[in-house]
Amino acid sequence: MGAMSSLAGKRALVTGAGSGIGAAVARRLAAEGAEVIVADLSPDAVAEELGAQGIVLDVRHEAEVSLVMDDLDVLVNVAGIGSTTNAPDTTLDVWENVFAVNARGTFLCCKYAIPGMAARGGGSIVNIASVAGLVGLRNRAAYCASKGAVISLTRALAVDHVADGIRVNAVAPGTVDSPWVRRLVEDVGESIDALRARQPMGRLGTPEEIADAVAYLVAAEFVTGSVLVIDGGLTAA
Ligand SMILES: NC(=O)c1ccc[n+]([C@@H]2O[C@H](COP(=O)([O-])OP(=O)(O)OC[C@H]3O[C@@H](n4cnc5c(N)ncnc54)[C@H](O)[C@@H]3O)[C@@H](O)[C@H]2O)c1
Repeated sequence: MGAMSSLAGKRALVTGAGSGIGAAVARRLAAEGAEVIVADLSPDAVAEELGAQGIVLDVRHEAEVSLVMDDLDVLVNVAGIGSTTNAPDTTLDVWENVFAVNARGTFLCCKYAIPGMAARGGGSIVNIASVAGLVGLRNRAAYCASKGAVISLTRALAVDHVADGIRVNAVAPGTVDSPWVRRLVEDVGESIDALRARQPMGRLGTPEEIADAVAYLVAAEFVTGSVLVIDGGLTAA
């Protein structure tokens, strides 16, 4: 997978590929020639659009994950959920579920993909973290902690599996205009203008801009254990 080579003949599974950033990643990898597997709670629309295999997958469940991670060259862990409270207002149920999807889900997918990748001589894993794993964002306690876990797991995996030819990197997006953010606006009453206003560039990112970063990391042969921040300057400010 040299930086300029296509992904023709490579098998790439994308979790959370039924919506938003994951769908953009699936489209991008398919455009580069990969055989993409669309894994999500609701994979059908994107799988059909791409003429790709769709798998109904809940990344929280070990039995489900263990069955679908064979023979991969590329794994992109995008499935994730948010939280919208500070610690005192966070119920244990919310904490556990945010960690079950974001941290345990990423761990399980990596755990079951790595042996097959090693047997094939290597591979590339990209985990979607968040700037919430790098800085404190207000009223996102469980989410911030879970994305910090994703970043630390990424580094640990990179070190453990470098000799297997497996590279493991993370992307830390800032606020991206996806169905998720639209739900925040509709359900929690956060204002899209306020989200834009906290961006130094005055605009949100696009799912395609995150997919560009994923495609770079999939191909970048000398890059492992990196966290690529794609946030329009949010964390620089
Ligand atoms: N949108 C943002 O501003 C933003 C910023 C930083 C990081 N992220 C991260 O990017 C990822 C995708 O976010 P998005 O904005 O595209 O959100 P989204 O809600 O549009 O898409 C998330 C997808 O994950 C799937 N999913 C949720 N729980 C799942 C589970 N248990 N098993 C399998 N699939 C599951 C959903 O079905 C959905 O298709 C998340 O990990 C999120 O934390 C998003």
